[in-house]
Amino acid sequence: MRKIIIDTDPGQDDAVAILFALASPELEVMGITTVAGNVPLELTTKNARIVCELAKRPDVQIYAGCDRPMGRTLVTAEHVHGETGLNGVIHTDPTMPVQDAHAVDFLIETLRSTDGVTLCPLGPLTNIGTALQKAPDIARRIDEIVLMGGGYFEGGNITPAAEFNIYVDPEAADIVMRSGVKVTLAPLDLTHKMLTSAEWIAAMRALNTDVGDAVAGWTDFFERFDVAKYGSAGAPLHDPCVIAHLVDPTLFSGRLCNVEIELNSDLTRGMTVADWWGVTDRPKNATFLRDGDRTRFFTLLSTRLATL
Ligand code: BDR
Ligand code: CA
Repeated sequence: MRKIIIDTDPGQDDAVAILFALASPELEVMGITTVAGNVPLELTTKNARIVCELAKRPDVQIYAGCDRPMGRTLVTAEHVHGETGLNGVIHTDPTMPVQDAHAVDFLIETLRSTDGVTLCPLGPLTNIGTALQKAPDIARRIDEIVLMGGGYFEGGNITPAAEFNIYVDPEAADIVMRSGVKVTLAPLDLTHKMLTSAEWIAAMRALNTDVGDAVAGWTDFFERFDVAKYGSAGAPLHDPCVIAHLVDPTLFSGRLCNVEIELNSDLTRGMTVADWWGVTDRPKNATFLRDGDRTRFFTLLSTRLATL
C-alpha cells in the first residue's frame, strides 16, 4: 500500500479524485489537507468533509491549510465549479470533524515521522510550498509529489499561458519545482485527453448509489462549462488523473524534463515552461505526463467508484 496525503481544493474533479483514492486498496490515505483555490478555504474544507462522508469514511483526518497564496491575492474559480465548489448536487452539511492542527504542521510532522509518503496536490501548491519553506528538511523525506497542474503544448485554462492551480500560487509551485523532490505533473496536456462522455455519466447514474448520483450530478454541472469553452464532447477529469497514475502507472506516458515556473511576466504568470525537447542544460526536475489511454482510465475509475 502506498501512503499518500491528498492536498486539495474541492472542486468536483477533486471530489472524484478523493472518492477514487478512498476506493483504491493500493493507496492508504493518511490525511487530506485543504487549501484555498477553486473556492475559499472554508468551502474547500467543508467539501472535503462532504466527500469523505459520501464515501462513508468519516474517520479520514482532514486538516485545513492556507487560506491564500504565499504572496498573491487569491483567485478562485466559481465560474467553473459554482459558488459552493460542488454545484450540481445539493449536499447536506457534514458533521465529521476537522482536525485541530494546521495542514502545514500536519504535513511537516507526518513527513518527519513517516517514511515513504507521496504527496498528491490537486489544487494550488500553497500548503506544500509553505511546508517546504518552513521545514526544508522534509524535502528528502518525501517519496514523490504527483500533482495536477500546468500545461505546455496545450496552453492554459485560466489565461492563455497558465493552468489554474499553478497560476493561483506560482511562487509555491516554484518552490516545489526547485525542491529536489521527485515530481510528476499531470498537466492539461494529459487531462484534456481524459474527457467524460454522456455514456460514462449515464453509467455513473446507473450505479444507483449515492456516490454514482453525486459523480453524475457534479460532472453534468462542470461539463456545461468545458463543453461551451472547448467545444468538446465532455469535460476533462483533471484531478483523478493523479490517483490513476498512482494506481496504474502504465496508463499514462510522459518524459522526464526540466519544468520551470514563470513568476514575473504579467502576460505569462504561472506558465509551466517544459523543456520537452531538451534544448537547455537545465536540470530534469519533473516527469511531464502528456498522453494516456482514455478507455482504460475510465474503466479503472468506474470500477473503483462502483465499490463505494
Ligand atoms: C485544475 O483547476 C481546478 O479547477 C481543478 O480542480 C483542477 O485541479 C484544473 O486546471
Ligand atoms: Ca483541484
